[in-house]
Amino acid sequence: MFDLNVLLQQEMDGLKKLGLFREMKRVDSAQGPVVKIDGREVILLSSNNYLGLATHPDVIKAQIDTLKEFGAGSCASRLISGNMNLHEELEKKIADFKHTESAIVFPTGYMANAGTISSLVGKEDLVICDKLNHASIIDGVRLSRARFRTYPHKNLKKLEDILKKEAGYKKKLIITDGIFSMDGDIAPIPDLIKISKRFNAFLMVDDAHATGVLGQTGRGTCEHFNIKEGVDIQMGTLSKALGCLGGFVAGSSPLIDYIRNKARSFIYTTGLPPAIAAGCIKAIEIIEEDSDLRKRLWRNVERFKAVLKDLDFDTMGSETQIIPVLTGDISRTMRSAERLFEMGVFAPGVRPPTVPKNKSRIRASIMATHTDEHIDRVIEAFKKLRNGTMI
Ligand SMILES: Cc1ncc(COP(=O)(O)O)c(C=O)c1O
Repeated sequence: MFDLNVLLQQEMDGLKKLGLFREMKRVDSAQGPVVKIDGREVILLSSNNYLGLATHPDVIKAQIDTLKEFGAGSCASRLISGNMNLHEELEKKIADFKHTESAIVFPTGYMANAGTISSLVGKEDLVICDKLNHASIIDGVRLSRARFRTYPHKNLKKLEDILKKEAGYKKKLIITDGIFSMDGDIAPIPDLIKISKRFNAFLMVDDAHATGVLGQTGRGTCEHFNIKEGVDIQMGTLSKALGCLGGFVAGSSPLIDYIRNKARSFIYTTGLPPAIAAGCIKAIEIIEEDSDLRKRLWRNVERFKAVLKDLDFDTMGSETQIIPVLTGDISRTMRSAERLFEMGVFAPGVRPPTVPKNKSRIRASIMATHTDEHIDRVIEAFKKLRNGTMI
């Protein structure tokens, strides 16, 4: 029978059989270190609100004040009448923060990647990605119709092999996550810069998870490695450590002018609401002024990781606040996540296609606003999980 609902139901039944059907838990409170779900308070161990800025009083105040003065939305594309002073102020703030000439803001990080990549390269160009790059990067490359190659995670020898083999393209672009979103390790940026220079390729780094977190003053992967130049395109989001919403690209003035003229996900969509832009500006100011937040984050990370190591969990080479706990098998992963939830810890299981087959995991992420008591309770839950031989 030709019935859309029947066809869709069949596909979803297939996903259910494989344990891959996705359902969402609903959070009935703000995204703090503790959230309310199903009428219970549980410790949130899966948020990208790494510094707690989504509930920071100064960020909230900046949004409320701007909302009252500038209204709820920008109501047009930036290129028509939606370009507001707060957008330009935010872009200047980001450029200063990232030490680049210029910056451009998109409504989401996904759109920043999709629009930037698909405008920079086309059919005559080559893009080479780390195998574990985020889906928004992959989608940007697909949209561009450029020749697409991947190298095994952080395997620079294979990257060089590809560059040697695939000569003759007009532009060559290497793209990597700064902090890998599901593994929590850091890309070898200094080596990637050397390789990109040697092969006349350009380098783009997605600092979605590093912005606000990595480096002495939270400026991201480049600061972490003490790198001043060599990364041509620095992408980031405003939705994770900054606690708000939006994506950005920072780089040279010609790069940003080009993106503003060419990126369809910038041109053909409404600008960020002004209140969100104001919240982001305040969030960057806090990151610049308050290093205690970052110190608390790293202290919590170290504490939690030390215990996981003692318990002999495989944290898959994590070097940051994103801490995967390898469970491998899909059903074991989902059972472990449910068990943690019963014990008051919300850390969902991550399955294919988000991660490779047999690499399902609990993806824990730590926040600066977790108190010692929260971390104690999380540790207790993981101890019980280990003793219960769940994973
Ligand atoms: C590495 C990476 N890049 C880009 C994005 C997209 O950012 P946003 O959530 O702001 O759309 C994400 C979000 O999950 C991400 O993890």
